[in-house]
Amino acid sequence: MEKKRTMEKKIIIVTAVPSLVIVVAVVLGITLGKTTFKQEFEYRCSMFESSKKYNCTEIWHEFEKAYVNQDPCKIPMNAYDSLVAAAPFEHACKKTMFWSKTKNLVHDLTENRDDVVALEDTLLGSVLGGLHWCGEKGNSDTFTSGCPGWNECVNPRRSFWSRVSTAFADFACDDVTAMLNGSIDTPFDPESIFASIEVKRFNYPRVKSLNVVLVTQNKTVTNCTNASLKDLQKYLDQGITYNCEEVTETQIQDCSSHPEKPCGACW
Ligand SMILES: *[C@@H]1O[C@H](CO)[C@@H](O)[C@H](O)[C@H]1NC(C)=O
Ligand SMILES: *[C@@H]1O[C@H](CO)[C@@H](O)[C@H](O)[C@H]1NC(C)=O
Ligand SMILES: *[C@@H]1O[C@H](CO)[C@@H](O)[C@H](O)[C@H]1NC(C)=O
Ligand SMILES: *[C@@H]1O[C@H](CO)[C@@H](O)[C@H](O)[C@H]1NC(C)=O
Ligand SMILES: *[C@@H]1O[C@H](CO)[C@@H](O)[C@H](O)[C@H]1NC(C)=O
Repeated sequence: MEKKRTMEKKIIIVTAVPSLVIVVAVVLGITLGKTTFKQEFEYRCSMFESSKKYNCTEIWHEFEKAYVNQDPCKIPMNAYDSLVAAAPFEHACKKTMFWSKTKNLVHDLTENRDDVVALEDTLLGSVLGGLHWCGEKGNSDTFTSGCPGWNECVNPRRSFWSRVSTAFADFACDDVTAMLNGSIDTPFDPESIFASIEVKRFNYPRVKSLNVVLVTQNKTVTNCTNASLKDLQKYLDQGITYNCEEVTETQIQDCSSHPEKPCGACW
């Protein structure tokens, strides 16, 4: 009798321990995955220069609300309306700079100087830049892998960038600069966020001029006469003055390393 009871205990321990380990590992894995994204979000938010004006707890909450517990292929742009409202831009609207296919060069340029501001320099742009996320119906977690691709469907990442780009373009005023890539065949790509969203939001007289800086390298592919840039002018609201300049990448880099020079002198 005594022996049998010991045997039963052993069996219970033998089966219980491994399943407990699995349960702990799964819970820990999910928790770690979740807190890693949330922690990264909150860390970047708190590191943002002027974060004192922002409430990162509230911003996280508004962000999460847009996609959590929802089909990751059915997240419309306006799901982020309250997030955008919770984190308004605070730079001077006339410093707004746009880019397409010149991200790294623009980032190097705006990083050290405060006379030009790209979307990636704003709170939402800097917090979510380079991150991947999505939710799932029936689940309150944030996933960072297995999310729909950029062109796959109406997904949380693409809708976020579309929504925040819309707000960024609506915010821009006076003389707007756009840095485009002269080393590719079509510098004004109709599929780009710049062409499909931002340019269409420039309204006269809020925006007075658009200055395209076409970045060239030694082996330049395109110049300011390119037909895609003619299309760009057709998209522009009447009254907005258009200008295009070809500027070498070396000149822009030189400007990045001399933040004391006014940007206008760079092109
Ligand atoms: C930040 O927002 C959270 C959630 O909306 C709120 O509970 C908290 O009081 C706010 N903090 C400050 C400092 O306003
Ligand atoms: C322009 O595009 C080419 C090809 O994708 C890339 O190699 C180059 O770095 C881009 N130029 C800039 C200034 O980003
Ligand atoms: C472009 O040419 C200049 C000199 O003509 C050279 O110093 C520079 O390294 C070249 N840049 C590239 C990207 O080839
Ligand atoms: C611009 O590029 C076209 C070909 O794409 C060329 O025919 C033209 O001479 C170039 N213009 C200038 C000013 O370099
Ligand atoms: C210029 O723009 C047109 C139309 O957008 C494009 O098809 C063409 O290949 C571009 N590039 C050059 C170098 O001509």
